[in-house]
Amino acid sequence: SLQHVKQKGTLVVGTSADYPPYEFTVKQNGQTKYVGLDIEIAKQFAKNLGVKLEIKNMNFDSLLVALETRKVDMVISGMNPTPERQKSVDFSKIYYRGKQYMLINQKDATRFKNIHSFRGQTI
Ligand code: ARG
Repeated sequence: SLQHVKQKGTLVVGTSADYPPYEFTVKQNGQTKYVGLDIEIAKQFAKNLGVKLEIKNMNFDSLLVALETRKVDMVISGMNPTPERQKSVDFSKIYYRGKQYMLINQKDATRFKNIHSFRGQTI
């Protein structure tokens, strides 16, 4: 709980740092640093609460169990709120919606009008 976090003075956040640009690692003079959009959000959370941030890196599949068993206070890991997951945990509101695009060469634009145009095509 929030009370518990403030009492500890540390917000323990679970993530699976293998998912750039949301969470990933960089090596900085021999040290592993956690970086990415979600890490920045977690930092801001801790800052607003006036507590320290501890990142616990683990397999994506272990995150919900870690939360349920209170090994972490919160999970932020680019995780979608699927009905299955919603059975066991409480998701926040959506904080980021990605827009992803496919692209082809301009000169092929007339050949590929939509996804169906790709059927059986070789370039
Ligand atoms: N968005 C996908 C999901 O919710 C994949 C998330 C993977 N995240 C990660 N940090 N590896 O299942």
